[in-house]
Amino acid sequence: MKELRIGLVGTGNIGRTHIERINQRLQGGRVIACADANFDFCKTVAEQYGLDAYQRGEDMISSNDIDAVIVATLDPFHEQYVRAAIQAGKYVFCEKPLAPEAEACKRIVEAEITGGKHLVQVGFMRRYDPGYRQLKGLLASGKYGLPLMLHCAHRNYDAPGFTTPMSVENSMIHEIDVLRWLLNENYATVEVVFPKSTRHAEGDLRDPQIMYLTTESGVRIDVESFVNCRYGYDIKCEIVCEEASLNLPEPPNAMIRTNDSRMTPICHDWSERFIDAYNIELQEWINFCKNGHLTGPNAWDGYVGQVTAKAASKARDTQSVVRIELESMPDFYKK
Ligand SMILES: NC(=O)c1ccc[n+]([C@@H]2O[C@H](COP(=O)([O-])OP(=O)(O)OC[C@H]3O[C@@H](n4cnc5c(N)ncnc54)[C@H](O)[C@@H]3O)[C@@H](O)[C@H]2O)c1
Repeated sequence: MKELRIGLVGTGNIGRTHIERINQRLQGGRVIACADANFDFCKTVAEQYGLDAYQRGEDMISSNDIDAVIVATLDPFHEQYVRAAIQAGKYVFCEKPLAPEAEACKRIVEAEITGGKHLVQVGFMRRYDPGYRQLKGLLASGKYGLPLMLHCAHRNYDAPGFTTPMSVENSMIHEIDVLRWLLNENYATVEVVFPKSTRHAEGDLRDPQIMYLTTESGVRIDVESFVNCRYGYDIKCEIVCEEASLNLPEPPNAMIRTNDSRMTPICHDWSERFIDAYNIELQEWINFCKNGHLTGPNAWDGYVGQVTAKAASKARDTQSVVRIELESMPDFYKK
């Protein structure tokens, strides 16, 4: 295959950044068509980037002009387009979450198994961040003993319109996936507690929140979500092992001496902080689609993430420790 011809459904914020990334920076693939429920807007995006515009995502997905699909619509509409791509036998990259409900993720898993081919990748892009990849390599080296505890934080400058459930389901879902991938094991229990709330929290929002996860082997993890920290975007991950503490590196920035002080700028938001991760994620996806072999986060990872997030939401609402009940992994997903 010369160039992977990609159709993208959902021309909103992240959809448009993926079009620009693929068509202007990455190699081997090209977004050639787009679809969106807001067809007028879709047509302006198509005109801007020189794409074919489709009113119905399903028509684009089944078209012979398309080799692979990106789904970047709002969460409740992921399932229908991912299943349409499976039905058409095409690779599909779906932005996280795979679907807002675990049952919908399960239906996607079942459809993929029935189709008999690995076609689905979920946009858990932290796995592609060079810093997290370094941590994964250090853990795998075995030089530092076993991991025992993780201390993590996920802080945003602000988050207009954010609600209490979104801290787990939209923010910490990233930690739920990437920490499971780092440790290579599932979670057993989850609890969510509320520290004192910041005066910057709007309406009923409880901010910050702390999620406590325990893995099946007993590793303890605390993740702080603080979406109104009012100083920038800050992602922390410390893995305390038997013989070392491993720390997620920060993106490099020059240190500035000015006004009798020293300062090193940090990122303002996620799109800046994880730009390398998005580029690597989609470049590898294009390469793997062309080789016919996906290795990224799969539909089962999407299902596990959503079961865990739902258990965390229940733990938050009931202020109790909740067991995470997963079905056993189908042979189809065993490496
Ligand atoms: N990986 C990440 O870090 C990350 C970051 C941001 C967003 N996301 C995910 O990307 C997705 C899109 O987020 P966004 O911020 O771009 O949202 P957005 O609101 O800017 O865009 C969503 C687009 O989907 C379209 N849409 C809605 N319903 C549709 C339907 N039934 N059929 C076709 N199109 C439909 C809307 O018209 C809109 O253009 C979400 O699932 C979000 O969780 C992931």
